[in-house]
Amino acid sequence: MIIRHEKPSDIETITEVTKMAFKDKPISQQIDHFIISDLRAADALTISLVTEIDGQVVGHIAFSPVTISDGTTNWYGLGPVSVLPEFQGCRIGTTMVNNGLNILKSMNGKGCALIGLPIYYYRFGFINYPQLIHEGVPQEIFVVKSLFGEVPTGTVEFHQAFKQLSLIEKDAIADVIIDFEIAGVKIDKENEGIESVIEKGILSEMPNGKFMLQPSALAEYDSYFGKVAQFRATEMSRVHKNPIMKAINC
Ligand SMILES: CC(C)(COP(=O)(O)OP(=O)(O)OC[C@H]1O[C@@H](n2cnc3c(N)ncnc32)[C@H](O)[C@@H]1OP(=O)(O)O)[C@@H](O)C(=O)NCCC(=O)NCCS
Repeated sequence: MIIRHEKPSDIETITEVTKMAFKDKPISQQIDHFIISDLRAADALTISLVTEIDGQVVGHIAFSPVTISDGTTNWYGLGPVSVLPEFQGCRIGTTMVNNGLNILKSMNGKGCALIGLPIYYYRFGFINYPQLIHEGVPQEIFVVKSLFGEVPTGTVEFHQAFKQLSLIEKDAIADVIIDFEIAGVKIDKENEGIESVIEKGILSEMPNGKFMLQPSALAEYDSYFGKVAQFRATEMSRVHKNPIMKAINC
């Protein structure tokens, strides 16, 4: 088993490993692979380690900078961490967490925070401190580990990449849903949100030059918008069955 930093040639495999690891996890919105690519794109993937067994990448862990409201610097967020289902339970996760924390220490990292199952992370020394919080997250699942010195007091914010979907993308997707169902997809490619959903493979270009919304990607990406899409689809099929509306719209 080799633990090493990611190489450009690992990027697609990291996406696959992350998707597979989180596939059947009800706690996950299955957006973890997008978080990793957004961190990478924003140059905020401070540490990205892979585990290789017999030449196959079977695990991945990411660390990225966090901000703390009291001004403390050099703290990092751990996650996502993934191990392919068939390799889970073989201490790969443990080894990646320990290696990552050692690298953080060597970089003068002062501490590390994460949102996750405390029962798994206690073993690494992550515990909940009442004075350090993450807004909108139950305190029990927000755990931290100081690497040097005191645990700060304040509110931790993870990198923007963790705030999937961004508001701008939500608006863009909602626009696309409406266009898609009413008029086929008309796309304003200059729109920043649209550009990013194209990059994320939520929209893909068809041979006729139009864009197609990937319902599976959408549902995976955000269940709320999946529900909105479903609602709109039902509404539109109801309206389309009405002969007068059909004559107006189609
Ligand atoms: C969580 C994960 C990274 C752990 O990696 P792993 O290589 O399977 O874990 P390890 O073999 O190092 O596990 C070590 C210990 O943690 C326990 N453990 C593993 N996953 C756990 C989980 N989800 N909840 C609680 N305990 C867990 C193991 O039972 C083992 O316990 P033991 O030391 O008492 O025997 C991996 O199972 C995974 O990818 N899960 C799906 C994605 C995920 O949930 N990521 C974490 C999000 S917070």
